[in-house]
Amino acid sequence: MDPLEMVRNMRFTADDAFLDPGCKALLTALAERDSHTQDHSRRVMGFAHLLGLCCNLGEDDLMALNIAAYFHDIGKIGIPDNILLKPNRFTPDEMEIMKSHPEKGEGIVKELGLKLGQAVAQAVRHHHEHVDGGGYPDGLTGEEIPYIARIISVADSFDAMTESRPYHPARATSDVLEIMQGESGSKLDSYLVAKLRELIQSKHAGLVALLDNSIV
Ligand SMILES: [Fe+2]
Repeated sequence: MDPLEMVRNMRFTADDAFLDPGCKALLTALAERDSHTQDHSRRVMGFAHLLGLCCNLGEDDLMALNIAAYFHDIGKIGIPDNILLKPNRFTPDEMEIMKSHPEKGEGIVKELGLKLGQAVAQAVRHHHEHVDGGGYPDGLTGEEIPYIARIISVADSFDAMTESRPYHPARATSDVLEIMQGESGSKLDSYLVAKLRELIQSKHAGLVALLDNSIV
């Protein structure tokens, strides 16, 4: 199947089939508080899905990846507005509260009773772990971090840097790749960073479409 078609199908599936009404309601609730997080989550799902395809994930893993990528920041629903919506950088205390979102998200996802719930909940919990152990909440290292959490981490970093935020402008894709190369093997999984670079340099149709915002 054409890669662009695959992403289109994935988006359609994500929106209309594998997310049950409870899941959709939850995502809508988050979007009502913070529309940026929903847009970001959709793009992260697109990038993560393409990376998952490149890594030859099996059907269940790919499905768990899609759902976990969509829900990775759902725990932000439990972060107070004065922090969640703060337009500038967090104080150290605010950052500590913000860093509670993966565990809050894990708790929410577990309650959804999803078929792949355990894998999804683990990926949500660990999407801010760093391969050198410097991340949170558990300071896991390397392959201790679930594979799909490592994929989400790469997709999340890429999207966070290529979009404009109140405290930084959007960066060029080439600059983002250079920064991610510097984080390869410390924050990010080096194999997955190399895979993302391959995807971008091959001008993968699905990725180009996501970057052009023509799908999400
Ligand atoms: Fe997050």
